[in-house]
Amino acid sequence: MNRQVTLAAKPDGVIEASHFELREVPAPTPAAGDVLVRTLYLSIDPYVRPLLSSSALDFVGTVVPGDAVGQVVTSNHPWFRPGELVEGILGWQDYAAAPWYLLRKLDPQAAPVSTALGILGASGLTAYFGLFEVARIAPGDTVVVSAAAGAVGSAAVQLARLTGCRVIGVAGSDEKVRYLMDDLGVDAAFNYKSGETWPSKLGTACPFGVDVYFDNVGGCISDTILRYLNTKARVAVCGQISEYDSAAPAPGSRCLALVLEKRARVEGFLVSDFAPRFPQALAALGMCFRSGLLRNRETIEDGLENAPRALVGLLRGRNIGKQLVRVHEHRSGRP
Ligand SMILES: NC(=O)c1ccc[n+]([C@@H]2O[C@H](COP(=O)([O-])OP(=O)(O)OC[C@H]3O[C@@H](n4cnc5c(N)ncnc54)[C@H](OP(=O)(O)O)[C@@H]3O)[C@@H](O)[C@H]2O)c1
Repeated sequence: MNRQVTLAAKPDGVIEASHFELREVPAPTPAAGDVLVRTLYLSIDPYVRPLLSSSALDFVGTVVPGDAVGQVVTSNHPWFRPGELVEGILGWQDYAAAPWYLLRKLDPQAAPVSTALGILGASGLTAYFGLFEVARIAPGDTVVVSAAAGAVGSAAVQLARLTGCRVIGVAGSDEKVRYLMDDLGVDAAFNYKSGETWPSKLGTACPFGVDVYFDNVGGCISDTILRYLNTKARVAVCGQISEYDSAAPAPGSRCLALVLEKRARVEGFLVSDFAPRFPQALAALGMCFRSGLLRNRETIEDGLENAPRALVGLLRGRNIGKQLVRVHEHRSGRP
């Protein structure tokens, strides 16, 4: 049998675990060219939240979409063999039958397979292209990253440090600030939930202004950071998570006057814009990870049935690093 997490009701406002339900259906039979995969780790991603309440799509009654790492059970394609490890959009379920051409084969000797959902997957790639292609960071830049202790943010602060930038992280707890300072070695970090003093402390930490802002959150946090932009600053708009879990967007910011005054470049991007260059970026990220220059911290929730709780937790800032759900243990040989 195949357990699946489906959407029970379209969320309008704050999402709760009660918007989801767990059902059991027969395991899928792979068609010609398909590979049957048993899920090991699910990636819990912010983009799922706006997708579930999108007016253009209706996910009620369907499996929640999501990236995952899994192990091949049976294969109808000669490139994949039972027991091999793969990454792909498998959804929140025990088993998925996926077309062979949508799967990435993983080498468990090269890195722990769960990293394919974090630093050596979409999170690392988003940080890489956001910094190097969109923000075009250079040594000596002052770079501020919001949601800095999350999956994309922690990859971004590390890559910016490796480039020789002065890096400042903004995150939602003292524990995250300690992680950024002690483990990731940022130059300064601030807890935006610590009260009203963090904006002035940020100003003190950036005496020469902010050259690059890597924006994961939008809203009031971004409005505060934008105040410190330098002339010709670059803003890479990666995500707006502060708006994902509310029925209506908060009143808009008035930052365009600042963008004008500072002649700043503000550019949104989707990591998929850079898909043809993923192999090159993954090779660079993999090299840095294996040589110890990049870290991949994970927050792991156990059990497929707890995937809704993990998503709710992510939207409340409970994760440090990449939020995963462990669905099944990896078995050596055939699963
Ligand atoms: N452009 C792309 O192609 C692309 C690709 C992947 C991800 N993204 C975006 O990148 C951002 C980070 O994604 P991720 O996967 O790395 O998630 P993550 O940062 O690991 O987890 C989300 C974090 O966002 C913060 N957050 C949650 N609700 C918030 C709120 N209301 N206001 C401010 N901060 C809030 C929390 O950290 P704090 O405790 O610090 O608040 C939480 O831990 C998201 O906006 C996501 O949509 C974009």
